[in-house]
Amino acid sequence: MTEELHDLRLIVNGATHAVRVPARRLLSDALRHDCGLTGTHVGCEHGVCGACTVLLDGRAVRSCLVFAVSAEGADITTVEGLTRDDGTLGPVQQAFADCHGLQCGFCTPGFLTTITAGLRDNPDPSEEEARDMIAGNLCRCTGYQNIVAAVRRAAELAADEEPA
Ligand code: FES
Ligand code: FES
Repeated sequence: MTEELHDLRLIVNGATHAVRVPARRLLSDALRHDCGLTGTHVGCEHGVCGACTVLLDGRAVRSCLVFAVSAEGADITTVEGLTRDDGTLGPVQQAFADCHGLQCGFCTPGFLTTITAGLRDNPDPSEEEARDMIAGNLCRCTGYQNIVAAVRRAAELAADEEPA
């Protein structure tokens, strides 16, 4: 039996992608394979590691736990969408560079999107709050210390950008 396909329009980083996918297609796979946005990484495919985190209408979600068909019409932001319009690094990305918040980089897209959403909720996190913000994301390389520092640095950079 041939599998039924669904025509979807996914709005990713402000651009509309027309894709044709089976109902079982995960959003993580649709982003990577159908939209060509391979910045979203897939580690566990079980909602455990956080590498696949994207923003769905501003909220951090694990894209390996979302069916692509259910994301139609939502405003999706992947790590590719965190740069500024002129192509320079956004504050969370710059903070990771400043604080050496990554080593192999596999987990990094998920941390960047998670922290972007977290700082919207809490723009000035304490060290403990920064640790809480990233508690759901796994990194096998860094020991987290520099990622925590990057959360606080990103908060500073974002605050500096606020209009006075
Ligand atoms: S790949 Fe989605 S949480 Fe690990
Ligand atoms: S930097 Fe390698 S897994 Fe986090």
